[in-house]
Amino acid sequence: MGERLYSFGALVSPYPLPHESVEQPEFGAAPHVAQAETKPLFAMKHTEVDVSTIHSALRSAHAAPPIASGEADSTPLLSECTDKLGRPLKDLRLSVIDQCNFRCTYCMPKEVFTKDYPFLRSASRLSFEQMTFLAKAFVRLGVDKIRITGGEPLLRKDLETLIERLACLRTPEGKDVEIALTTNGSLLAAKARSLRDAGLRRVTVSLDSLDDAVFRRMNDVGFPVARVLEGIHAAAAAGLSPVKVNTVVERGVNESQILPIARYFRNTGVVVRFIEFMDVGGAASWARKNVFTSDDARRLIESEFALQPLLTQRANDTARNFEYADGAGSVGFISSVSQPFCGDCTRARVSSDGKMFTCLFATGSLDLKPWLGEALAPEALAQEILARWRDRDDRYSELRGVRARVGSKKVYPTVRMSLVGG
Ligand code: GTP
Ligand code: 5AD
Ligand code: SF4
Ligand code: SF4
Repeated sequence: MGERLYSFGALVSPYPLPHESVEQPEFGAAPHVAQAETKPLFAMKHTEVDVSTIHSALRSAHAAPPIASGEADSTPLLSECTDKLGRPLKDLRLSVIDQCNFRCTYCMPKEVFTKDYPFLRSASRLSFEQMTFLAKAFVRLGVDKIRITGGEPLLRKDLETLIERLACLRTPEGKDVEIALTTNGSLLAAKARSLRDAGLRRVTVSLDSLDDAVFRRMNDVGFPVARVLEGIHAAAAAGLSPVKVNTVVERGVNESQILPIARYFRNTGVVVRFIEFMDVGGAASWARKNVFTSDDARRLIESEFALQPLLTQRANDTARNFEYADGAGSVGFISSVSQPFCGDCTRARVSSDGKMFTCLFATGSLDLKPWLGEALAPEALAQEILARWRDRDDRYSELRGVRARVGSKKVYPTVRMSLVGG
């Protein structure tokens, strides 16, 4: 299998990506493993882009026209799909690839995710047909929002084809299924328009810093922040609205970025959410003392801008949302450590090889692949998912709090975030 490396700025990423599955970035010649002198994909002009230029463009981005509706799928709900704690199944988070071109220190630390790391083989990944088949079963059971995740989902070749298919799904009541995507933004500038044309509704971009040095340090492959900001702008201009920005805050690493990020995205329509650093999968450096709590982040913002709680909150929202009192937009806080939200958790996750996880911190999974064969009726798959969901009693984040209160030091191995998405 031919392998190639991607370079970011002056650095060459040491992480080869399988040739047949990975989209070629569109900003320069693909560097090769052996070419240590490779010209960077990002010519310096990218890193020199004045972020304030992108900022003004972002503020005046216009929404694209709405996309046409697809065919209806009115297959009725099988039967009530609620888990042992009475939580319905509403969101599917579908990972399309477990690889990423970043090595964020809190998610895929370099020391663990080396080039020898046993990533899923491309042959074990579900095809788009299988993913669509699977998504249909989830929709029949009550799912009305599908989030495409990774690793980095835009590394999966022809992702637009999957989005086109998913965008045609309708709930049993005939409503659109909301299709969203979480991305690190590195390939978004080139892809925003085609994603939107394929039927993607909205996008969430991870952005942990506006300071280029801090950003490069956190993604640990030297990727310049200006390129991600260009992606955010392109997404807004393409009408992928609202664009959301997710900022994981790690104490001692990037709390200095909270106010600059909040300021930067005010009056742009972009909704920033500050996320507490979690003890998930790859986060080897996690310790409670490294969590910068949402309350602290909110207080910091309130030292400069008055906030008021947004009342239009859905029960299963991960974020507590606030609006700026001066009408400059809204901002959210995701407090999985300090204020767990397991009680309203309606999310199922499926890895790119077809394993269903009922919690972000689950250790076990249900392999759905055997039910994806052509000869099998969709009914069998839906029944399998239903049975698993009915048996669900996960509430890891709440239990983490209980364990901390009783002084338990026990550490639970959890699934990798890069396998099941954020
Ligand atoms: P919206 O539909 O835009 O509200 O998206 P979302 O907040 O449901 O999903 P997103 O991927 O933006 O989630 C943001 C972050 O919240 C993730 O990257 C995680 O850090 C955290 N998060 C999301 N879902 C869960 C969850 O079920 N449990 C926990 N503990 N954290 C979660
Ligand atoms: N804590 C909180 N969020 C995390 N993510 C990855 N690792 C962590 C962690 N340790 C989430 C971030 C990122 C998304 C892809 O996954 O929100 O934006
Ligand atoms: Fe990649 Fe997102 Fe994990 Fe960073 S947080 S390593 S961008 S999957
Ligand atoms: Fe849901 Fe598990 Fe996260 Fe709790 S810890 S909100 S149950 S995914």
